[in-house]
Amino acid sequence: MNLIDLRSDTVTRPTAGMLQAMTRAETGDDVYGEDPTVIRLEARLAEQLGFAAGLFVPSGTMSNLLGLMAHCERGDEYIVGQQAHTYKYEGGGAAVLGSIQPQPLENQADGSLDLRQVVAAIKPDDFHFARTRLLALENTMQGKVLPLDYLAAAKALCRERGLGLHLDGARLFNAAVALGVEAGAISGCFDSVSVCLSKGLGAPVGSVLCGDAALIGRARRWRKMVGGGMRQAGLLAAAGLYALDHQVARLADDHANARRLAEGLQALGYAVEPVQTNMVYVEIGQAAIALRDFAASQGVRLTASPRLRMVTHLDVSAAQVEQVIEVFAGFTQQGGYESSN
Ligand SMILES: Cc1ncc(COP(=O)(O)O)c(C=O)c1O
Repeated sequence: MNLIDLRSDTVTRPTAGMLQAMTRAETGDDVYGEDPTVIRLEARLAEQLGFAAGLFVPSGTMSNLLGLMAHCERGDEYIVGQQAHTYKYEGGGAAVLGSIQPQPLENQADGSLDLRQVVAAIKPDDFHFARTRLLALENTMQGKVLPLDYLAAAKALCRERGLGLHLDGARLFNAAVALGVEAGAISGCFDSVSVCLSKGLGAPVGSVLCGDAALIGRARRWRKMVGGGMRQAGLLAAAGLYALDHQVARLADDHANARRLAEGLQALGYAVEPVQTNMVYVEIGQAAIALRDFAASQGVRLTASPRLRMVTHLDVSAAQVEQVIEVFAGFTQQGGYESSN
């Protein structure tokens, strides 16, 4: 059966064109700084996003970790959202490996952090406290796009208070496509940006951290230390370059598919949150496990979460979205939704 996998946009397979680009890649030893394809990818993204330098790393988790460690030293602190990936879903790496204390704040409904709360959380310069050094934002945040004027206000605040500003831009290009702006219009507000190539962009592996030359120099040192230095990584970088050339504009299709999915489920009576990019959140409640199992029997892979997240991507077509809506209709007809809630 041709499975429709909506668990994440990380599940995509490389397209034929991408595989061809990978097999043709020129390679060298990247730890020696000799892989021309990696160098090209790093330079390309850095330039596009308005930074002096970039660093190719195996994952978004490593990219964020190196970014935080390049900004902060032992005993420093970063302010971050309770729901942020860097804080909640990366094993506490900044604290464990970087000795960086997180200061989490509740995310607001639109995914942002209240900047008044950020100001209030900045510690005085006093040896009792960790040194507040950095604000870390995420965009998109659970599929929501942070407004450009909010980013400008966050940048102004960080300048005024002497904080660095880091972006977990795992889905930066989704945000840019949704806003109809160049990615640089978003990244320009930040001192460092981590971009994932293996989410909506569809590459099999890899993220790029961008920043100024000194920051990327420090991150390169940490990358080696945590085992992220790769050798003939041009094979993977070629996939990233292909994704940037061919698979950015099409993110608009994922967003349209997500909107259609949301509309279809809403029409069936499901409680669906407003959709901005490629993520659809539905309140499923106690029916989550029954729905996951029913959907699996119909060829649709879902997680079993009461606040169910479904993610559209390269490997989900508009026709498959209609199939998914039918599966939900079948679940409703069976009484699965009402009976479990
Ligand atoms: C917002 C966000 N940041 C960072 C990451 C980490 O990326 P990786 O899985 O490549 O470590 C993810 C992964 O899903 C993510 O959703």
